[in-house]
Amino acid sequence: MLKRVRTLSLKGFTVRLVMDSKVYPPSFTTRLIAENLPDLNGLDVLDLGTGSGILAIVASKLGARKIIATDISRRALANASINLKINDIENVELRYGSLYQPVEGETFNVIISNPPMTPSIQPFPRYTWGGVDGRIMLDKIILDAPKHLREKGRLIIPTISLIGIGKTWMLLNQMGFKVNVLGYGWRPFGKRLIKIKDYIDKLEHADYFYDSLWRPCWRVILYEAILS
Ligand SMILES: C[S@@+](CC[C@H](N)C(=O)[O-])C[C@H]1O[C@@H](n2cnc3c(N)ncnc32)[C@H](O)[C@@H]1O
Repeated sequence: MLKRVRTLSLKGFTVRLVMDSKVYPPSFTTRLIAENLPDLNGLDVLDLGTGSGILAIVASKLGARKIIATDISRRALANASINLKINDIENVELRYGSLYQPVEGETFNVIISNPPMTPSIQPFPRYTWGGVDGRIMLDKIILDAPKHLREKGRLIIPTISLIGIGKTWMLLNQMGFKVNVLGYGWRPFGKRLIKIKDYIDKLEHADYFYDSLWRPCWRVILYEAILS
């Protein structure tokens, strides 16, 4: 079967990806993270929920020493494995499992994650569904991050306005992180979000705005949380 190959330019690097319809395709937020990743020279990195492997590939190109990339989807890991090969990446280890379970007892200089954050009652495709308030994976990643970060370690994580940008900032502060903003952006609602707009309107922390074409739009902010 012929598979579609996509070529992306990220931070001046060329990344080739074999696309799998059951694996999260690189999105606006993926790109925002990739374009704002800092120099990772010599650092050990954890990519939680790697999907196609794209952020692990960029982390490798940015000089990371070793990257552990995890996912709860075996299909995603199989796709990431192909993508590592076609990009000649040899310092990424793929591991199956939920959240920090595959890296129990291990620590890193940097944790990167683009968790599923779509809030809804009905599960969306697993790779985008963040539970009823959209925060199910995000909050767990933040709460356990200090256990898996070395001194002055960094968690690089986005938050969309539909689940509470301020709530994430507060949580990171409560956990003792010093928080910087690495990047931000916005996108109009896609078809799926339009369908659940009434539900989103009822969420306590959800926020969005209308652009000049009167389309509802969500914001995304990329945080860098430094363990102090
Ligand atoms: C929004 S996608 C991001 C994929 C990729 N990192 C990117 O930025 O394009 C989220 C990924 O997290 C994975 N995932 C969902 N729940 C997870 C969990 N509990 N533990 C680990 N990975 C999970 C999904 O399978 C999916 O590949």
